[in-house]
Parts: sequence; structure tokens; C-alpha cells
Amino acid sequence: MSSEVSQSQMLNELKQGVIPTHVAIVMDGNGRWAQAQGKPRVFGHQKGVESVHQAVELAAELGVKVLTLYAFSEENWGRPKAEVSALMSLLETYVVKERQRLNEAKVQFRVIGNLEKIPEKTRKLVLETQKQLSENTGLILNIALSYGSRNEITFACKEIASKVEKGVLQVKDISPQTLSDHLWTKGLADPDLFIRTSGEQRISNFLLWQIAYTELYFSPVYWPEFRKEHFCEAVRSFQSRKRRFGLVSEN
Ligand code: FPP
Repeated sequence: MSSEVSQSQMLNELKQGVIPTHVAIVMDGNGRWAQAQGKPRVFGHQKGVESVHQAVELAAELGVKVLTLYAFSEENWGRPKAEVSALMSLLETYVVKERQRLNEAKVQFRVIGNLEKIPEKTRKLVLETQKQLSENTGLILNIALSYGSRNEITFACKEIASKVEKGVLQVKDISPQTLSDHLWTKGLADPDLFIRTSGEQRISNFLLWQIAYTELYFSPVYWPEFRKEHFCEAVRSFQSRKRRFGLVSEN
């Protein structure tokens, strides 16, 4: 059986089951993958872009509504300057090269994170792309950039506190929903499936509030080698889980 046939068969099988509305991915292992073959870490990030294409394509094919990719954490600012600027350039190239293709596929592009820290040129390009694709009604591709969940929650608390101070919000009216509505992910459903590649089993300050009831899946595959079939494997695992959200099963 050709790999194309087996892939479409796999897709059809998955489509019989519940498709996660929101999938969040920690794209880990670029550096280790590159170093394992005696290449600089940046080579791993470059190769990781092909995995981004594959993940976006598969998410759209499956009918996933939101795909959130952890592209750069707040902690990543501490990496060597050359690596940080290579990552910013990759993002710039990605949005410039892919904008049209994403638009044709009706993908809505969004960025979340502490964007003030992003270099002017990168910020301008990602925000421009976000604006241009904002009316699209297909997959929401949500890129976490300069993102840290504790900071996101802190910003939300400050905003809520300031509303209380101004008298536009009362303390008694603050609920978990109020907090959700002040996060960078406001308006998006919480992730159903969280995937981390490279065998590491950590959350790393990613969507801490939002993943309260998310199914976690850890793949041993390094991100540059993460292909559609690995993503399908994660969805298959998701479909085999019984989600109870703290309740009891019906039988
Ligand atoms: C983690 O691997 C990966 C990153 C910090 C960057 C991810 C970026 C890309 C895949 C490319 C650009 C993204 C888009 C959306 C176009 P790591 O370097 O921490 O790997 P290691 O744990 O093996 O060192």
C-alpha cells in the first residue's frame, strides 16, 4: 500500500471519531536533533519549519479548529543571541512566504505572547499577517511567541485589578471565566489535546490555565522528524481516552 493511500485511510479512520477542537503543540527537540548529526542547533529549527507545514496541513485536513504552536517562550530570550535572531528570521520568512498559501487555505493567523519584546521587524510582519488573515474562517493557527503562561496570567490579573480599581468590575463578579476572558487566548476553546515532542514530559510554562482538563500526549520523536503520521498517532491516542472532566462515567 502506498504511503499516500495509507495516510488517507488513516485520516478517514480518525474522522470517524471525535476530532479535538484545539490542539496545542510544544515543538521540542530541534537542537538535540541537529546536534545528534553534528549540525548547529539552528539547522534543527530550520528543518522544524517543514514539520510546522505538516502539522498545519493535517490539522486543517482533520477539521481541527485551533492549532496553537509554541514557537518561542519568554525563557528562550536567554538563548545565545545568534540562535534568537535565527529564530526571529525563520518566523519572518515563514509569514512572508506562507501568507498567501495560508490565506488560500482560509487559515486565520494569530499570535499570542508578550509581543513588546519582539524585534520591531518581526512584530510588524506577524501583526500585519494577523490583520490580513483575520477574516478567514478556517483553521486558527495560533503562534505563541515570547509566550509565558505565568506572565499571561499575571497580565490578566493586573487588567482585572485595574478594572476593579476603576469601578467597572466588582470583586464579587470575578469568576474563572473572567480570568479566561483576560488571557491572550480569550475567545478560544481550551485545548483538548496537548502534544510535546522529543520525549520530554514537561509543560514548560505553556497554557497552564487553559490545559486544566486537556489530554496530554508525549511523543518520543524530535520535532524536525514529526510528520503527519505522528500527529495522527497523537489524535488516535486522544480518541482512545475517556474524558471525565472530574465527573464519573455514565456506566
Ligand atoms: C524547541 O526546541 C523549539 C524552539 C525553541 C523553536 C521552535 C521553532 C520552530 C520549529 C521554527 C519556527 C516556527 C514557526 C512557527 C515557523 P529546542 O531548541 O529547545 O530543542 P532542544 O530541547 O533539543 O534543545
